[in-house]
Amino acid sequence: MKTTKSAAVRKHAAARNGSAPKTRPMLIDGKWVQALGGGSFPTFNPATGEPIANIAAGDKADVDLAVKAARAAFESGPWSRLTASERGRLLLKLADLLEKNLEEFATLESLDNGKPIGVARVADVPLAVDLFRYMAGWATKIHGRTFPISVPYAPGAQFFAYTQREPVGVVGQIIPWNFPLLMAAWKLGPALATGCTVVLKPAEQTPLTALRLGELIQEAGFPDGVVNIVTGFGETAGAALAGHPGIDKVAFTGSTEVGKIIVRAAAKDLKKVSLELGGKSPNIILDDADLETAIPGAASAIFFNHGQCCCAGSRLYVHKKHFDTVVDGVSAAARKIKVGPGHLPDTDMGPLVSEEQLNRVMGFLKSGQDEGAKAVAGGAREGKKGYFVQPTVLVNTKPGMKVIEEEIFGPVVCAIPFSDPAEVIAAANNNIYGLAAAVWTSNVSRAHTLASALRAGTVWVNCYNIFDAALPFGGYKQSGWGREMGEEALALYTETKAVCIRL
Ligand code: NAI
Ligand code: MG
Repeated sequence: MKTTKSAAVRKHAAARNGSAPKTRPMLIDGKWVQALGGGSFPTFNPATGEPIANIAAGDKADVDLAVKAARAAFESGPWSRLTASERGRLLLKLADLLEKNLEEFATLESLDNGKPIGVARVADVPLAVDLFRYMAGWATKIHGRTFPISVPYAPGAQFFAYTQREPVGVVGQIIPWNFPLLMAAWKLGPALATGCTVVLKPAEQTPLTALRLGELIQEAGFPDGVVNIVTGFGETAGAALAGHPGIDKVAFTGSTEVGKIIVRAAAKDLKKVSLELGGKSPNIILDDADLETAIPGAASAIFFNHGQCCCAGSRLYVHKKHFDTVVDGVSAAARKIKVGPGHLPDTDMGPLVSEEQLNRVMGFLKSGQDEGAKAVAGGAREGKKGYFVQPTVLVNTKPGMKVIEEEIFGPVVCAIPFSDPAEVIAAANNNIYGLAAAVWTSNVSRAHTLASALRAGTVWVNCYNIFDAALPFGGYKQSGWGREMGEEALALYTETKAVCIRL
């Protein structure tokens, strides 16, 4: 696969428009439209820093149209009359179409986000397909219960009481750029399975796969207005969506900082909110761990997706007995990683997504070094063109340093020695985040004890970054509200209605 991002995207645009590339329109009420204000913005190739496609810049007025379309589709359109089984079938059709176009989606994702195409091919796209299939199954299994009630102030009266689960309504979904297609799937799957309608705003850095998914949503036969996709910036389109009075619920994945802005915007009308935010996940290697699996596991925990994972294993706690061996092993793995453009077949790690993220990660490296940390591998930018950063292992860190406390969101791990399990549990939990954690041990009792003591929404034991559509994912503390995937996600998209009938 030797195409450059610009060539592939141009070909893509030309194939559909039959002409030179135009501003890529967005999907509102089943139609592909430009922004009412006529604005557009470029999406960049992170491997070169060059603009590669022009995207419609949606804003308040466009969001307003999309919300109206979603409201009409929810309340009176054909969607509102579909059976649960028909909803499930549409989701299955969408999964089939996505699978059929896997190669195209992997190419687009790699070009727009920078990740290696091989990773998008085996992880991003298949996981999205699987999520839609999993959620399709739930469409027919969302049900209430019956209750024997004994009302003390109504002696002798007979009641029949039950609950039913209803879709929460029109949902605004704001997603990030690290797994653009997969995050769209995590959000759309449960919303559509439960019968909600959606206005989705992709990240401005990576809008291409969500837009192509919009075409497949139409091809699958979802009625107009059920899924609207408004492209644009966070401060404009995103803010308009989070504060729109016609939205019943906002679902957000991104920074903790913006998560707090979303909560404030949604508070005006007390919209339901779910948040999947940042992390600073502890990855703990105990003295009885099998180092042959723990060392490559620790490397992939931080370097997968260039460290641009909310659950990246960025604080590596290693028992002092193995500290030097593990640091040497993870550093050797870091040096072996081939950094390059995502479309080249031998690339292991692509560029960071944007110049902003490059500057952010370089700022963390500088602050770490200024405060006394030492890079035993990496520590610098790679090359002068594009947004590449060397896979980095930092040692000599101290509690309180920015690199220890804050989410870096790049290929940078801090390795920290410890001597006893109680001390490491306290250190691991001593952070504002609680998204994920991992433990490497051969002792089953210690595995369970630590899994229970760690304040995190996911704990992996002797593995890392294992995701499944059936497993709920989300955060304790400032890592978020609610869970995505699994049965748990359905609760975020339904209201429970209690019905009580006097017999
Ligand atoms: P961000 O939180 O600003 O962006 C995520 C999404 O929120 C994008 O769609 C963006 O357009 C939207 N957004 C931004 N400001 C908004 C606002 N005021 N109202 C409504 N929507 C808004 O994240 P950004 O700036 O791209 O990255 C900054 C840091 O955030 C990263 O370094 C990383 O630490 C963290 N992050 C975490 C992610 C996660 O998966 N938990 C994903 C992306 C970023
Ligand atoms: Mg931002």
